[in-house]
Amino acid sequence: MLLDLEAVMAAKLGIHNIVQLCFFSSLLLVPLVSGGRATTATTGGGSGGGGSSQKLNVQNHLKNLNKPPVKSIKSPDGDIIDCVHMSHQPAFDHPDLKNHKIQMKPPNFHPEGKILADSKVSSSSSPVAQLWHQNGRCPDGTIPVRRTKKEDILRASSIQRFGKKKQKSFPQPSAKPLPDILTQSGHQHAIVYVEGDKYYGAKATINVWDPRIQQPNEFSLSQMWILGGSFGQDLNSIEAGWQVSPDLYGDNNTRLFTYWTSDAYQATGCYNLLCSGFIQINSDIALGASIYPLSNYGSSQYDISILVWKDPKEGNWWMQFGNNHVLGYWPASLFSYLSDSASMIEWGGEVVNSESDGQHTSTQMGSGHFPDEGFGKASYFKNIQVVDGENKLRAPKDLGIYTEQDSCYNVKTGNADDWGNYFYYGGPGRNPNCP
Ligand SMILES: *[C@@H]1O[C@H](CO)[C@@H](O)[C@H](O)[C@H]1NC(C)=O
Repeated sequence: MLLDLEAVMAAKLGIHNIVQLCFFSSLLLVPLVSGGRATTATTGGGSGGGGSSQKLNVQNHLKNLNKPPVKSIKSPDGDIIDCVHMSHQPAFDHPDLKNHKIQMKPPNFHPEGKILADSKVSSSSSPVAQLWHQNGRCPDGTIPVRRTKKEDILRASSIQRFGKKKQKSFPQPSAKPLPDILTQSGHQHAIVYVEGDKYYGAKATINVWDPRIQQPNEFSLSQMWILGGSFGQDLNSIEAGWQVSPDLYGDNNTRLFTYWTSDAYQATGCYNLLCSGFIQINSDIALGASIYPLSNYGSSQYDISILVWKDPKEGNWWMQFGNNHVLGYWPASLFSYLSDSASMIEWGGEVVNSESDGQHTSTQMGSGHFPDEGFGKASYFKNIQVVDGENKLRAPKDLGIYTEQDSCYNVKTGNADDWGNYFYYGGPGRNPNCP
Protein backbone atom coordinates (compact mmCIF):
# COMPACT_ATOMS: atom_id res chain seq x y z
CA MET A 1 0.00 0.00 0.00
CA LEU A 2 2.74 2.33 0.96
CA LEU A 3 4.44 1.61 -2.31
CA ASP A 4 1.40 2.50 -4.38
CA LEU A 5 1.02 5.70 -2.45
CA GLU A 6 4.58 6.51 -3.15
CA ALA A 7 4.23 5.81 -6.85
CA VAL A 8 1.29 8.14 -7.02
CA MET A 9 3.22 10.83 -5.19
CA ALA A 10 6.17 10.35 -7.44
CA ALA A 11 3.98 10.74 -10.49
CA LYS A 12 2.40 13.87 -9.04
CA LEU A 13 5.68 15.45 -8.12
CA GLY A 14 7.13 14.79 -11.54
CA ILE A 15 10.74 14.53 -12.40
CA HIS A 16 11.70 18.18 -12.11
CA ASN A 17 11.63 17.82 -8.36
CA ILE A 18 13.84 14.84 -8.37
CA VAL A 19 16.40 15.70 -5.75
CA GLN A 20 13.91 16.67 -3.07
CA LEU A 21 11.84 13.62 -3.87
CA CYS A 22 14.87 11.48 -3.38
CA PHE A 23 15.37 12.73 0.16
CA PHE A 24 11.72 12.70 0.98
CA SER A 25 11.15 9.18 -0.19
CA SER A 26 14.16 7.77 1.56
CA LEU A 27 12.67 9.05 4.81
CA LEU A 28 9.40 7.47 3.90
CA LEU A 29 10.99 4.19 3.00
CA VAL A 30 13.19 3.58 5.98
CA PRO A 31 10.54 2.11 8.29
CA LEU A 32 9.12 0.03 5.48
CA VAL A 33 12.47 -1.41 4.53
CA SER A 34 13.59 -2.25 8.02
CA GLY A 35 10.20 -3.76 8.79
CA GLY A 36 10.46 -6.00 5.77
CA ARG A 37 13.94 -7.01 6.72
CA ALA A 38 12.93 -8.07 10.22
CA THR A 39 10.13 -10.24 8.90
CA THR A 40 12.28 -12.01 6.38
CA ALA A 41 15.04 -12.66 8.87
CA THR A 42 12.80 -14.34 11.40
CA THR A 43 11.08 -16.51 8.83
CA GLY A 44 14.46 -17.49 7.48
CA GLY A 45 14.81 -20.86 9.22
CA GLY A 46 17.95 -22.93 9.19
CA SER A 47 18.02 -25.19 6.16
CA GLY A 48 21.60 -25.81 5.11
CA GLY A 49 24.37 -23.47 3.85
CA GLY A 50 25.04 -19.90 4.78
CA GLY A 51 23.97 -19.37 8.36
CA SER A 52 21.48 -16.80 9.45
CA SER A 53 23.82 -13.81 9.44
CA GLN A 54 24.76 -14.49 5.83
CA LYS A 55 21.09 -14.87 5.02
CA LEU A 56 20.38 -11.55 6.62
CA ASN A 57 23.21 -9.97 4.64
CA VAL A 58 21.87 -11.38 1.39
CA GLN A 59 18.41 -10.05 2.23
CA ASN A 60 19.85 -6.63 3.02
CA HIS A 61 21.81 -6.59 -0.20
CA LEU A 62 18.70 -7.53 -2.19
CA LYS A 63 16.80 -4.72 -0.49
CA ASN A 64 19.51 -2.28 -1.53
CA LEU A 65 19.54 -3.44 -5.13
CA ASN A 66 15.84 -4.00 -5.74
CA LYS A 67 14.13 -0.68 -5.28
CA PRO A 68 10.35 -0.61 -4.86
CA PRO A 69 8.86 -0.73 -8.38
CA VAL A 70 6.02 1.31 -9.81
CA LYS A 71 5.27 -1.66 -12.09
CA SER A 72 6.91 -5.02 -12.83
CA ILE A 73 7.12 -6.92 -16.10
CA LYS A 74 7.83 -10.63 -16.41
CA SER A 75 10.13 -11.35 -19.34
CA PRO A 76 9.80 -14.62 -21.33
CA ASP A 77 13.35 -15.54 -20.20
CA GLY A 78 12.29 -15.56 -16.54
CA ASP A 79 13.68 -12.12 -15.68
CA ILE A 80 11.56 -9.68 -13.77
CA ILE A 81 11.98 -6.12 -14.95
CA ASP A 82 11.07 -3.60 -12.27
CA CYS A 83 10.08 -0.13 -13.43
CA VAL A 84 11.65 1.99 -10.72
CA HIS A 85 11.11 5.68 -10.33
CA MET A 86 14.14 7.42 -11.76
CA SER A 87 14.96 9.14 -8.49
CA HIS A 88 14.99 5.83 -6.59
CA GLN A 89 17.67 4.20 -8.73
CA PRO A 90 20.72 2.68 -7.03
CA ALA A 91 22.99 5.52 -8.17
CA PHE A 92 21.59 7.81 -5.50
CA ASP A 93 22.77 5.53 -2.70
CA HIS A 94 26.30 6.70 -3.51
CA PRO A 95 27.48 9.15 -0.82
CA ASP A 96 28.91 11.50 -3.45
CA LEU A 97 25.70 11.48 -5.47
CA LYS A 98 23.20 12.22 -2.69
CA ASN A 99 22.90 15.82 -3.84
CA HIS A 100 23.47 15.10 -7.49
CA LYS A 101 21.17 16.95 -9.81
CA ILE A 102 20.10 14.48 -12.44
CA GLN A 103 20.78 15.48 -16.04
CA MET A 104 17.61 14.72 -17.93
CA LYS A 105 19.12 15.14 -21.36
CA PRO A 106 22.49 14.57 -22.89
CA PRO A 107 24.35 17.79 -23.58
CA ASN A 108 23.79 19.58 -26.85
CA PHE A 109 27.33 18.62 -27.67
CA HIS A 110 26.55 15.30 -29.27
CA PRO A 111 29.69 14.15 -31.04
CA GLU A 112 29.59 14.93 -34.70
CA GLY A 113 30.85 12.69 -37.40
CA LYS A 114 30.15 11.06 -40.65
CA ILE A 115 26.89 9.16 -40.26
CA LEU A 116 27.62 5.64 -41.34
CA ALA A 117 24.60 3.57 -42.22
CA ASP A 118 23.96 1.05 -39.49
CA SER A 119 22.91 -2.50 -40.22
CA LYS A 120 22.97 -1.99 -43.98
CA VAL A 121 23.99 -5.56 -44.58
CA SER A 122 21.60 -7.13 -42.11
CA SER A 123 19.20 -9.35 -43.93
CA SER A 124 16.46 -8.29 -41.56
CA SER A 125 15.43 -4.72 -41.00
CA SER A 126 13.73 -5.23 -37.64
CA PRO A 127 15.59 -3.30 -34.96
CA VAL A 128 17.33 -5.18 -32.20
CA ALA A 129 15.36 -4.90 -29.01
CA GLN A 130 15.11 -6.59 -25.65
CA LEU A 131 13.17 -9.75 -24.96
CA TRP A 132 11.11 -8.33 -22.09
CA HIS A 133 9.51 -5.79 -24.48
CA GLN A 134 7.27 -8.65 -25.61
CA ASN A 135 5.43 -8.37 -22.29
CA GLY A 136 5.27 -4.64 -21.65
CA ARG A 137 7.06 -1.32 -21.27
CA CYS A 138 8.01 0.93 -18.39
CA PRO A 139 6.14 4.22 -17.89
CA ASP A 140 7.83 7.59 -18.39
CA GLY A 141 9.72 8.79 -15.36
CA THR A 142 10.79 5.26 -14.47
CA ILE A 143 13.76 3.15 -15.51
CA PRO A 144 13.69 -0.61 -16.15
CA VAL A 145 15.86 -2.51 -13.66
CA ARG A 146 16.52 -6.25 -13.93
CA ARG A 147 15.51 -7.63 -10.53
CA THR A 148 18.31 -9.42 -8.68
CA LYS A 149 17.32 -12.78 -7.23
CA LYS A 150 18.68 -14.39 -4.09
CA GLU A 151 20.29 -17.13 -6.21
CA ASP A 152 22.17 -14.51 -8.26
CA ILE A 153 23.95 -13.31 -5.14
CA LEU A 154 24.53 -16.82 -3.79
CA ARG A 155 26.42 -17.77 -6.98
CA ALA A 156 29.01 -15.03 -6.31
CA SER A 157 32.17 -15.75 -4.32
CA SER A 158 30.92 -13.28 -1.71
CA ILE A 159 28.24 -10.65 -1.32
CA GLN A 160 30.91 -7.97 -1.72
CA ARG A 161 32.10 -9.45 -5.02
CA PHE A 162 28.62 -9.91 -6.49
CA GLY A 163 28.27 -7.86 -9.68
CA LYS A 164 32.00 -7.17 -9.88
CA LYS A 165 34.66 -8.52 -12.16
CA LYS A 166 37.22 -10.74 -10.50
CA GLN A 167 40.01 -8.88 -8.78
CA LYS A 168 43.25 -8.74 -10.65
CA SER A 169 46.61 -9.62 -9.29
CA PHE A 170 48.75 -6.50 -9.48
CA PRO A 171 51.21 -5.21 -10.36
CA GLN A 172 52.15 -6.90 -13.56
CA PRO A 173 51.67 -4.88 -16.71
CA SER A 174 54.72 -5.31 -18.87
CA ALA A 175 54.92 -5.32 -22.63
CA LYS A 176 51.29 -4.76 -23.55
CA PRO A 177 49.43 -2.57 -21.12
CA LEU A 178 45.99 -4.09 -21.43
CA PRO A 179 43.54 -4.68 -18.62
CA ASP A 180 42.66 -8.28 -17.86
CA ILE A 181 45.52 -9.23 -20.11
CA LEU A 182 48.70 -10.42 -18.42
CA THR A 183 47.13 -9.46 -15.16
CA GLN A 184 44.73 -12.31 -14.83
CA SER A 185 45.60 -15.80 -15.85
CA GLY A 186 43.01 -17.65 -17.86
CA HIS A 187 41.48 -14.65 -19.59
CA GLN A 188 41.82 -14.69 -23.35
CA HIS A 189 41.27 -11.80 -25.69
CA ALA A 190 41.00 -10.99 -29.35
CA ILE A 191 40.95 -7.21 -29.55
CA VAL A 192 42.02 -4.11 -31.40
CA TYR A 193 43.10 -0.93 -29.61
CA VAL A 194 44.36 2.64 -29.95
CA GLU A 195 46.54 4.51 -27.49
CA GLY A 196 48.90 7.48 -27.36
CA ASP A 197 46.33 10.24 -27.58
CA LYS A 198 43.55 11.77 -25.48
CA TYR A 199 40.18 10.19 -26.21
CA TYR A 200 36.76 11.50 -25.27
CA GLY A 201 34.62 8.57 -26.30
CA ALA A 202 34.21 5.63 -28.64
CA LYS A 203 31.64 4.04 -30.88
CA ALA A 204 31.07 0.63 -32.43
CA THR A 205 28.42 -1.49 -34.06
CA ILE A 206 28.72 -4.98 -32.63
CA ASN A 207 27.37 -8.18 -34.19
CA VAL A 208 25.33 -10.14 -31.60
CA TRP A 209 25.66 -13.91 -31.12
CA ASP A 210 25.09 -16.57 -28.49
CA PRO A 211 28.47 -18.21 -27.86
CA ARG A 212 28.48 -21.53 -26.01
CA ILE A 213 29.99 -21.46 -22.52
CA GLN A 214 31.68 -24.67 -21.36
CA GLN A 215 31.75 -24.03 -17.60
CA PRO A 216 29.32 -21.90 -15.57
CA ASN A 217 32.27 -19.98 -14.06
CA GLU A 218 33.45 -18.93 -17.53
CA PHE A 219 32.01 -16.14 -19.67
CA SER A 220 32.20 -14.75 -23.18
CA LEU A 221 31.85 -11.06 -23.87
CA SER A 222 32.18 -8.59 -26.72
CA GLN A 223 32.65 -5.01 -25.69
CA MET A 224 34.55 -1.76 -25.83
CA TRP A 225 36.81 -0.50 -23.06
CA ILE A 226 37.42 3.20 -22.42
CA LEU A 227 40.50 3.33 -20.24
CA GLY A 228 42.26 5.97 -18.19
CA GLY A 229 45.46 5.67 -16.19
CA SER A 230 48.38 3.34 -16.53
CA PHE A 231 47.22 -0.10 -15.44
CA GLY A 232 48.12 0.29 -11.81
CA GLN A 233 45.80 -0.04 -8.82
CA ASP A 234 43.97 3.07 -9.97
CA LEU A 235 43.06 2.08 -13.51
CA ASN A 236 39.81 3.72 -14.63
CA SER A 237 37.57 1.87 -17.06
CA ILE A 238 34.14 2.30 -18.67
CA GLU A 239 32.94 -0.75 -20.58
CA ALA A 240 29.86 -1.67 -22.60
CA GLY A 241 28.79 -4.47 -24.90
CA TRP A 242 27.12 -7.87 -24.74
CA GLN A 243 27.97 -10.87 -22.61
CA VAL A 244 26.99 -14.45 -21.79
CA SER A 245 27.76 -15.10 -18.12
CA PRO A 246 26.04 -18.00 -16.33
CA ASP A 247 27.57 -16.99 -13.01
CA LEU A 248 26.26 -13.45 -13.15
CA TYR A 249 22.79 -14.12 -14.62
CA GLY A 250 22.07 -17.82 -14.04
CA ASP A 251 21.57 -18.64 -17.73
CA ASN A 252 23.25 -18.63 -21.14
CA ASN A 253 21.39 -15.65 -22.59
CA THR A 254 23.16 -12.89 -24.48
CA ARG A 255 22.73 -9.70 -22.48
CA LEU A 256 23.49 -6.01 -22.83
CA PHE A 257 25.91 -4.89 -20.14
CA THR A 258 27.99 -2.01 -18.84
CA TYR A 259 30.84 -1.95 -16.35
CA TRP A 260 32.86 0.73 -14.62
CA THR A 261 35.72 0.88 -12.13
CA SER A 262 38.02 3.61 -10.85
CA ASP A 263 40.43 1.31 -9.00
CA ALA A 264 41.28 -1.53 -11.35
CA TYR A 265 38.25 -3.70 -10.50
CA GLN A 266 38.93 -3.69 -6.76
CA ALA A 267 36.47 -1.87 -4.48
CA THR A 268 34.69 0.47 -6.90
CA GLY A 269 32.35 -0.21 -9.76
CA CYS A 270 30.24 -3.07 -11.01
CA TYR A 271 28.19 -4.43 -13.87
CA ASN A 272 25.03 -2.60 -14.89
CA LEU A 273 23.14 -1.06 -11.96
CA LEU A 274 24.47 -3.56 -9.42
CA CYS A 275 26.08 -0.78 -7.41
CA SER A 276 25.55 2.95 -7.30
CA GLY A 277 27.31 4.88 -10.04
CA PHE A 278 25.64 4.89 -13.45
CA ILE A 279 22.63 7.20 -13.64
CA GLN A 280 19.98 5.95 -16.04
CA ILE A 281 17.40 8.23 -17.65
CA ASN A 282 15.96 5.87 -20.27
CA SER A 283 12.75 3.90 -19.74
CA ASP A 284 13.10 1.47 -22.68
CA ILE A 285 16.39 -0.36 -22.28
CA ALA A 286 17.33 -2.42 -19.22
CA LEU A 287 20.99 -3.04 -18.46
CA GLY A 288 21.60 -6.77 -18.04
CA ALA A 289 18.50 -7.71 -20.05
CA SER A 290 18.53 -10.29 -22.87
CA ILE A 291 19.07 -8.98 -26.38
CA TYR A 292 16.67 -10.20 -29.05
CA PRO A 293 16.96 -11.32 -31.82
CA LEU A 294 20.43 -12.90 -32.18
CA SER A 295 22.43 -13.72 -35.32
CA ASN A 296 22.33 -17.16 -36.92
CA TYR A 297 25.24 -18.86 -38.67
CA GLY A 298 24.95 -18.33 -42.42
CA SER A 299 21.63 -16.56 -42.00
CA SER A 300 20.15 -13.38 -40.41
CA GLN A 301 22.64 -11.03 -38.81
CA TYR A 302 21.90 -8.57 -36.04
CA ASP A 303 24.01 -5.93 -34.39
CA ILE A 304 23.84 -3.27 -31.69
CA SER A 305 25.44 0.17 -31.75
CA ILE A 306 27.02 1.68 -28.68
CA LEU A 307 28.37 5.20 -28.33
CA VAL A 308 30.05 6.47 -25.17
CA TRP A 309 31.14 10.09 -25.10
CA LYS A 310 32.20 12.72 -22.62
CA ASP A 311 30.13 15.85 -22.16
CA PRO A 312 32.75 18.57 -22.79
CA LYS A 313 31.03 20.89 -20.32
CA GLU A 314 29.99 18.82 -17.28
CA GLY A 315 32.52 16.07 -17.87
CA ASN A 316 30.03 13.21 -17.47
CA TRP A 317 30.40 10.11 -19.67
CA TRP A 318 27.17 9.44 -21.60
CA MET A 319 26.06 6.23 -23.24
CA GLN A 320 23.78 5.80 -26.24
CA PHE A 321 22.35 2.47 -27.40
CA GLY A 322 21.25 2.24 -31.04
CA ASN A 323 20.45 5.46 -32.86
CA ASN A 324 18.03 6.96 -30.40
CA HIS A 325 18.30 5.48 -26.92
CA VAL A 326 20.38 7.67 -24.65
CA LEU A 327 20.65 5.41 -21.60
CA GLY A 328 22.25 7.76 -19.09
CA TYR A 329 25.68 8.67 -17.80
CA TRP A 330 28.54 7.99 -15.43
CA PRO A 331 29.15 11.17 -13.41
CA ALA A 332 32.67 12.54 -13.83
CA SER A 333 33.08 12.47 -10.04
CA LEU A 334 33.25 8.65 -10.06
CA PHE A 335 36.62 8.77 -11.76
CA SER A 336 40.14 10.09 -11.43
CA TYR A 337 41.88 9.82 -14.84
CA LEU A 338 38.62 9.60 -16.75
CA SER A 339 37.44 12.85 -15.19
CA ASP A 340 39.85 14.33 -17.75
CA SER A 341 40.06 11.96 -20.72
CA ALA A 342 40.76 8.38 -21.75
CA SER A 343 44.25 7.26 -22.73
CA MET A 344 43.30 4.07 -24.54
CA ILE A 345 40.30 2.52 -26.29
CA GLU A 346 39.88 -1.20 -26.94
CA TRP A 347 37.24 -3.17 -28.85
CA GLY A 348 36.85 -6.93 -29.02
CA GLY A 349 36.16 -10.19 -27.23
CA GLU A 350 37.17 -11.76 -23.95
CA VAL A 351 36.55 -15.24 -22.55
CA VAL A 352 37.62 -17.08 -19.43
CA ASN A 353 39.65 -20.23 -20.03
CA SER A 354 39.50 -22.18 -16.78
CA GLU A 355 41.01 -25.34 -18.33
CA SER A 356 38.81 -27.32 -16.01
CA ASP A 357 39.66 -30.63 -17.67
CA GLY A 358 43.31 -29.80 -18.32
CA GLN A 359 42.59 -28.72 -21.88
CA HIS A 360 41.80 -25.36 -23.39
CA THR A 361 38.18 -24.39 -22.82
CA SER A 362 35.69 -24.87 -25.63
CA THR A 363 33.93 -21.65 -24.60
CA GLN A 364 33.32 -19.72 -27.79
CA MET A 365 34.16 -16.09 -28.52
CA GLY A 366 31.95 -14.07 -30.89
CA SER A 367 30.12 -16.56 -33.11
CA GLY A 368 32.54 -19.36 -32.20
CA HIS A 369 34.01 -19.16 -35.72
CA PHE A 370 37.33 -17.71 -36.86
CA PRO A 371 37.56 -14.30 -38.58
CA ASP A 372 38.52 -15.91 -41.91
CA GLU A 373 34.98 -17.14 -42.39
CA GLY A 374 33.77 -13.55 -42.84
CA PHE A 375 30.30 -12.06 -42.87
CA GLY A 376 27.37 -14.14 -41.65
CA LYS A 377 29.69 -16.65 -40.00
CA ALA A 378 32.31 -14.79 -37.98
CA SER A 379 31.34 -12.02 -35.54
CA TYR A 380 32.27 -8.41 -36.35
CA PHE A 381 32.68 -4.93 -34.93
CA LYS A 382 32.15 -2.27 -37.61
CA ASN A 383 32.32 1.50 -37.83
CA ILE A 384 34.65 1.65 -34.86
CA GLN A 385 35.40 5.27 -34.08
CA VAL A 386 36.85 7.45 -31.35
CA VAL A 387 35.71 10.87 -30.12
CA ASP A 388 38.52 13.42 -30.33
CA GLY A 389 39.26 16.64 -28.39
CA GLU A 390 36.92 18.60 -30.67
CA ASN A 391 34.05 16.25 -29.79
CA LYS A 392 34.14 14.76 -33.28
CA LEU A 393 33.86 11.11 -34.23
CA ARG A 394 37.00 10.02 -36.05
CA ALA A 395 38.42 6.84 -37.48
CA PRO A 396 40.95 5.40 -35.02
CA LYS A 397 44.58 5.85 -36.09
CA ASP A 398 47.16 3.05 -35.94
CA LEU A 399 45.02 0.25 -34.64
CA GLY A 400 46.95 -2.32 -32.62
CA ILE A 401 45.88 -5.95 -32.44
CA TYR A 402 46.20 -8.29 -29.48
CA THR A 403 45.48 -11.99 -28.96
CA GLU A 404 47.11 -14.41 -26.54
CA GLN A 405 46.74 -17.50 -28.74
CA ASP A 406 45.55 -16.83 -32.26
CA SER A 407 44.96 -20.53 -32.79
CA CYS A 408 42.16 -20.33 -30.18
CA TYR A 409 40.68 -16.87 -30.89
CA ASN A 410 41.81 -14.44 -33.56
CA VAL A 411 41.26 -10.95 -35.04
CA LYS A 412 41.32 -9.65 -38.61
CA THR A 413 40.92 -5.96 -39.39
CA GLY A 414 39.71 -4.23 -42.52
CA ASN A 415 38.35 -1.02 -43.95
CA ALA A 416 35.45 -0.45 -46.32
CA ASP A 417 33.26 2.45 -47.43
CA ASP A 418 30.10 1.42 -45.65
CA TRP A 419 31.70 -0.39 -42.73
CA GLY A 420 34.43 2.13 -41.91
CA ASN A 421 37.10 0.53 -39.75
CA TYR A 422 35.94 -2.97 -38.92
CA PHE A 423 37.25 -6.30 -37.71
CA TYR A 424 36.17 -9.88 -37.43
CA TYR A 425 37.14 -11.61 -34.20
CA GLY A 426 36.58 -14.74 -32.15
CA GLY A 427 36.90 -18.47 -32.49
CA PRO A 428 35.90 -21.81 -31.04
CA GLY A 429 38.48 -22.10 -28.28
CA ARG A 430 39.59 -25.74 -28.06
CA ASN A 431 40.39 -27.29 -31.48
CA PRO A 432 43.25 -29.41 -32.88
CA ASN A 433 45.51 -26.32 -33.01
CA CYS A 434 44.42 -25.13 -29.57
CA PRO A 435 44.55 -28.25 -27.42
C1 LIG B 1 24.55 -23.31 -20.50
O1 LIG B 1 25.19 -23.98 -21.56
C2 LIG B 1 25.97 -25.11 -21.16
C3 LIG B 1 26.75 -25.60 -22.36
O2 LIG B 1 25.94 -25.74 -23.49
C4 LIG B 1 25.04 -26.15 -20.57
O3 LIG B 1 25.78 -27.28 -20.15
C5 LIG B 1 24.31 -25.54 -19.37
O4 LIG B 1 23.38 -26.44 -18.86
C6 LIG B 1 23.61 -24.24 -19.76
N1 LIG B 1 23.14 -23.59 -18.56
C7 LIG B 1 21.92 -23.12 -18.41
C8 LIG B 1 21.62 -22.50 -17.09
O5 LIG B 1 21.07 -23.21 -19.29
